[in-house]
Amino acid sequence: TAEADLAGRHVVISAGGTREPLDPVRFLGNRSSGKQGYALARTAAARGARVTLLSANAALADPAGVDVVHVGTAVQLREAVLKAATDADAVVMAAAVADFRPTQYAAGKIKKKDGQEPDPIALTRNPDILAEVAAERPRAGQVVVGFAAETDEVLVNGRAKLRRKGCDLLVVNEVGERKTFGSEENEAVVLGADGSETPVPYGPKEGLADTVWDLVVERIDRG
Ligand code: C5P
Repeated sequence: TAEADLAGRHVVISAGGTREPLDPVRFLGNRSSGKQGYALARTAAARGARVTLLSANAALADPAGVDVVHVGTAVQLREAVLKAATDADAVVMAAAVADFRPTQYAAGKIKKKDGQEPDPIALTRNPDILAEVAAERPRAGQVVVGFAAETDEVLVNGRAKLRRKGCDLLVVNEVGERKTFGSEENEAVVLGADGSETPVPYGPKEGLADTVWDLVVERIDRG
């Protein structure tokens, strides 16, 4: 995989985790570090691709030779993905997107009131960016890849999610101790809509990234 097999291709990658603000100082967020998405960006650039990295709150330096767009919320990420995807050969959604956002945003910091219980936080569903891109395919023949973290029945749940999202490939991580969040290593199975199943043994996130690109290249060539 050392060749420039992505030369002339544009790939769009989302990374990190969205933050959904409650007020100017607080948000609902998640534990995604962005490391897997950044590894995908570095490896795609090394293989010759033009890379657009849509980074949601990752505390990582911009990779060299990559166009980086920083976003905060799921709604902002959706705008950025749809804009970048129009001429993309592949879209890889590695970001952890919040399923819900607070319905209300308080322009001033929410205060605790003496002797009163806190108000509940009302939530609104966020758009499912992966499902939308997979359904619309902003560029004909583009390959769409999702990620899923599962704790049990990993393959069964992964297959169901692949179908529900309508993507071509789904990278399924088993979430557990040491694995996935903030770690330099990952272990996964990449499921294909064509029925393929590619296990990736525990190792650096670059290794998984290169396997994803191998599978993407096969599918770009097929399309
Ligand atoms: O449904 P779930 O969150 O497990 O799906 C994970 C996959 O879907 C990831 O690829 C993630 O980037 C994407 N996703 C999305 N928009 C959402 C929720 C998840 O694109 N609102």
